[in-house]
Amino acid sequence: MATVFVTRAVPGDALELLRAAHEVTVWDGALPPEAAVLRGALADTEGLLCLLTERIDRALLDAAPRLRAIANYAVGTDNIDLEQARARGIAVGVTPDVLTEATADLAFALLLAAARRLPEAAAAARDGSWRTWEPAGWLGAEVDGATLGIVGFGRIGRAVARRAAGFRMRVLATPATPLNELLAASDFVSLHLPLTPQTRHLIDAAALARMRPTAILVNTARGAVIDQRALIDALREGTIAAAAIDVTDPEPPPSGDPVHDAPNLLLVPHIGSATRSARARMTELAVENLLAGLAGRPMPHPAP
Ligand code: DGY
Repeated sequence: MATVFVTRAVPGDALELLRAAHEVTVWDGALPPEAAVLRGALADTEGLLCLLTERIDRALLDAAPRLRAIANYAVGTDNIDLEQARARGIAVGVTPDVLTEATADLAFALLLAAARRLPEAAAAARDGSWRTWEPAGWLGAEVDGATLGIVGFGRIGRAVARRAAGFRMRVLATPATPLNELLAASDFVSLHLPLTPQTRHLIDAAALARMRPTAILVNTARGAVIDQRALIDALREGTIAAAAIDVTDPEPPPSGDPVHDAPNLLLVPHIGSATRSARARMTELAVENLLAGLAGRPMPHPAP
């Protein structure tokens, strides 16, 4: 029996399997444990189930001498120093596939909502400014037949492309289409890349300047794939028409962050995988990873 720390209550029943085999402590706060609390908890912990809100860096790993297995409750791993974990022989697992369709749905929902200006239209319907049917009111962008540029053609990017086929969109995707060409040719650009040193600020001021003034940018990947300051400037200056983003840098944006006032920006709070079934399946995969890792077996869903 090993000691396991779980950094938040997670949906579904799969934690019971973990409890049946190991001594499990679940952090019961609504917010992530403070870094010092997490450090204290890990002093004697062998297995960790953590979220993307926890930064698992060298200093934390130094404070966790017994740690053998980490199950990240996410498909992304940018919150974990994988090199340091590997150097210590700590197995790291992720939750692929089970959130692909939910995240692709959200990317498409954001695309449609921004194209048809749903946030402003819904606000107008409530606040009394809907006075009549207006021939030129709330005009948005046509999605049918438009060109969608998908940056990152992995599992989620391909799932977005399948949805786009139903809207008869022309799909361009990296790397088959070079990024600059894709940015210049697309009516909609949707990002589906992991955050790595190579993809940090991939969409910077220069990239935004290559996009069409009518283009809409969708991000369900990681906030820092976009240079957020440059995006806010591009929205203010009309370099692009709109953006719809599920992720920011940092998360959540602090009060007073200019992202809150950016025009034509639809922002939702990192809900890409937030369906009941996807989140329950993520718990199952994380538990499968921990059970294997703590038993000294290869994790079924290892970090890439
Ligand atoms: C992930 O899995 O990386 C998402 O961002 C959260 O589900």
